[in-house]
Amino acid sequence: MTGLAIIGGTGLTSLSGLEVTDKQFIETPFGQPSSALFMGRFAGKKVVFLPRHGEGHTVPPHKINYRANLWALKHAGISKVISIAAVGGIHDDLAPGTLAVPEQIIDYTYGREQSFYSDNFSPDKHLDFSYPYTESLRKLILDSADKQQIAIKNGGVYGATQGPRLETAAEIKRLKQDGCDMVGMTGMPEAYLARELGIDYACCALMVNWAAGLSDGVITMKHIEQTINEGMTEIKQLLAEIIQTQ
Ligand code: HPA
Repeated sequence: MTGLAIIGGTGLTSLSGLEVTDKQFIETPFGQPSSALFMGRFAGKKVVFLPRHGEGHTVPPHKINYRANLWALKHAGISKVISIAAVGGIHDDLAPGTLAVPEQIIDYTYGREQSFYSDNFSPDKHLDFSYPYTESLRKLILDSADKQQIAIKNGGVYGATQGPRLETAAEIKRLKQDGCDMVGMTGMPEAYLARELGIDYACCALMVNWAAGLSDGVITMKHIEQTINEGMTEIKQLLAEIIQTQ
């Protein structure tokens, strides 16, 4: 049974180098996932790939059915998920093009289904989430980057915002005061839903812009896409190492 899945974000709606052996459309009790699960081989090893925003990037962050995505992966036998996320850099060390493996989350999202047990709750469902990412999986990403001599930052706080709009400069100032080092729109509730299902979960974040107000000029998708294209080569090299090691 395949154990590892990659959830690809903006810029990673397909995984080049993935030899797809099966495409599974899974209906879940929580509705439909963002797309079919792509089962296949990458760097000679089994892996499952799920594009978070759908195959054509048509599902915005606040409309993603996070519960269906995680449930479908669990159903397919997945025990580890690595999330690839394009984010805005807030900390001075996190300039566009930098890779990081965050270790904490602050959740600013709202109105998203946060639990598989919303309609079936009991006191034992208040799960510990002190450390939202699985340390062994964070370490796997960091060690794999080391082996491939890919520069990557260990740590940082991921601020999860609602989207689909980018933040105001004042919002980023507040996030910075709160202790956020990077900002993205999809980190939650994905990480917590993985916890509820007992799936190991870690994130590899690529800074694709300076967050709002931290650089001159407007944040454009053209610039973001350019940074993503440059960063994806390293991410794919990193994924190949991770998949071969695990
Ligand atoms: N803010 C929120 N999400 C993002 C950003 C940003 O600046 N860049 C990429 N995803």
